[in-house]
Amino acid sequence: MVDLAVLRFPPRFLFGTATSSYQVEGGLTDNDWYDWEGLPGRIRDGSRAGSACDWWGGRAEEDLRLSAELGHHAHRCSLEWSRLEPEPGRFDDAAFARYREIFTAARDAGLELFVTVNHFTLPRWAAARGSWLHRGLADRFAGLCGRVASELGDLVTAFATLNEPSVVAFIGYAGHLWPPGMKDPACAPVALSNMLRAHAGGYRAIKSVAPEAQVGIVLNAPYFDPVEAGIDRALAGMQDWAFTEVVLRALKGGYLWPPLSFVPARVPGLAGALDWIGLNYYGRFGVRFDPSAPEMFFGRHVQEPTVKTEWTDWGQPWPDGLTAQLHRFGKLGVPVYVTENGIYDNTDTQRPDFLRRHVRAVHRAWTEGVDVRGYFHWSLLDNFEWAEGYATHFGLVEVDFETGARKPRHSAEVYRQICADRAV
Ligand code: FCB
Repeated sequence: MVDLAVLRFPPRFLFGTATSSYQVEGGLTDNDWYDWEGLPGRIRDGSRAGSACDWWGGRAEEDLRLSAELGHHAHRCSLEWSRLEPEPGRFDDAAFARYREIFTAARDAGLELFVTVNHFTLPRWAAARGSWLHRGLADRFAGLCGRVASELGDLVTAFATLNEPSVVAFIGYAGHLWPPGMKDPACAPVALSNMLRAHAGGYRAIKSVAPEAQVGIVLNAPYFDPVEAGIDRALAGMQDWAFTEVVLRALKGGYLWPPLSFVPARVPGLAGALDWIGLNYYGRFGVRFDPSAPEMFFGRHVQEPTVKTEWTDWGQPWPDGLTAQLHRFGKLGVPVYVTENGIYDNTDTQRPDFLRRHVRAVHRAWTEGVDVRGYFHWSLLDNFEWAEGYATHFGLVEVDFETGARKPRHSAEVYRQICADRAV
């Protein structure tokens, strides 16, 4: 089916790309992911993040200039907590200065900046205290947020406190593929609750320093789709509740609902702690009852085709799911941004079409009344893909990790046109 109508976005709609600190900066040795990589068998291709895309060493500026040359209007990146606060309560001026330098270069190139304060990685000192199982980390995080707002706030269009708290809770606490690798389902609600406390504290801390700042949070919301009516529907509903809905409820009303808390429990400062919301969307999971899959709450993911490796499944590309989740996020009553959407595709054969179809799905949500203001493709360039290492490529720009050479893929040209016309 070919749909040739040109879909136009409003003039201030932002098209950009996203990255995160650990995945691109390089030279990081004081956090939980560095230690995790050092354990045998934790990274699928056996690699270590190492110098990554060498942003810290000096290449951030040229990559962000390239981003602007490719027509992007904005970039979403994150800050590395272990650099900014190497010991609890001690902030590092040189690290703040380097971020200022990078952000200034991005702004000079014409990019607006969306900055996530924490995208997965925790300082080693925080991991030693129990990572997100430690309730006190929420206060530490609020302290970091306040400092970040006063040092960098003038360069930032919008802040997000945290990236994908549910992903962290499920993969690192219920599961064992990411640090801290708890493999204990009871740990996930504890970690997720503490991250929501951290969001509330972080939001309040930023606003107390910079009342005009736009502060949100970024959630990953896959489309959980029952294969059949009946039990599959109940299981898909449960997965969605535990992963997405419970977080949306908490953000809306300020309460933790089961399984986060046995009885509804209020989180001080959480209600109303949201100026915008970010949606990370990769695809659809077909949920089917399987008594042999307790680790999946007995609802196995069986969609075909799907985008996956032996370790990670990003689901079936499903643009309608993006429209649906935008509607849902829009009900929070704040502007919505697609803060990540992309595909693991080392040969760039599927990405161009994936990109166009998902941008069209965003447009549809907009025409249907959702206050969606921007779209950030994951990612600007190939980078360190967590437990997958360097083997799975999401970049519009290809990186040769031997030579450091950058080469825009065909999808970068497709996206350039979308950005230039604000149309697809
Ligand atoms: C998201 C993460 C991002 C990247 C993409 C592929 O869940 O936020 O860092 O790894 O997946």
